[in-house]
Amino acid sequence: MDIGALNELFAIPGHLHFETGEGGLTKAVVANSFATAEVYFQGAHVTSYRPAGQGELLWMSKTAQFGDNKAIRGGVPLCWPWFGKQEGHAQHGFARKSLFTLFGTSVNAQGETVLQFGLQDSEATRAVWPHAFMLEYRVSVGRTLGMELKTTNAGDVTFELSQALHTYFAVDAIENVRIEGFEGNTYIDTLRDDAACIQKGPVVIGEEVDRIYEDDGQSVTLSDGTHRVAIAGSGSRSSVVWNPWIAKAASMADFDDEGYKTMVCIETANARKDARILQPGESHTLVQQLIPAAP
Ligand code: BG6
Repeated sequence: MDIGALNELFAIPGHLHFETGEGGLTKAVVANSFATAEVYFQGAHVTSYRPAGQGELLWMSKTAQFGDNKAIRGGVPLCWPWFGKQEGHAQHGFARKSLFTLFGTSVNAQGETVLQFGLQDSEATRAVWPHAFMLEYRVSVGRTLGMELKTTNAGDVTFELSQALHTYFAVDAIENVRIEGFEGNTYIDTLRDDAACIQKGPVVIGEEVDRIYEDDGQSVTLSDGTHRVAIAGSGSRSSVVWNPWIAKAASMADFDDEGYKTMVCIETANARKDARILQPGESHTLVQQLIPAAP
């Protein structure tokens, strides 16, 4: 659908409209009394969320690539239907490289702007993952940013699902970052042969970090000395914390070399043993909500 038709069908005055964004890709631009936000149809990818009177909450790489079949570096990529490496397949699945369809837009009872995207299996998806599915993604932009990813097994064969809302947070200075709420939790350190470790105190980042925390769905808080945001979730008992640090950032063409100083990923996930089994007809919803502290 072209931009004109999208605006005719789905724009809501005082809430949202559609534009051509980077790389000629279509994006929804939200501006309501609570916040502004941008969501690309490519990957149903939230690239910006800015609560009124506050700074940008999401980090974007200065060298992010925008194009068909490309994952956008920054914002909130959807890792789906698998998280991490999968033998013979692209890391983190195909949803983040897929063009989603817009199902609808609305304003909810709280006055938040709501966008509903969807992705269904096709010949192309079945060639890499042989399952019938319906993936629905609801983004609500208000005083908080809500992201709900619902997977339904639309086929007649059971499948395993692992996934993550892979949020890149913008921070002022990585050395001031504290992530509170994981204290006492077990994590798998993927940089140390998957060693099982116990988190002592808040998470601080002074080197490459790539960890999968086991949790009970409690919310955690990210602060950088100036800003605070709470990250709440549901449908998840695992969270990933990632910062590539110097060498890994330099090795990634779409990750600007200095970017590791101003970002950290906190991903609400169903990773490793938190993967879910979906029987035919069953659904599972993964939710992440970003709750910025008032300025
Ligand atoms: C994180 C993983 O979720 O994503 C890291 O834990 C990985 O191991 C990172 O490097 C980025 O992945 P990608 O595929 O977007 O480069």
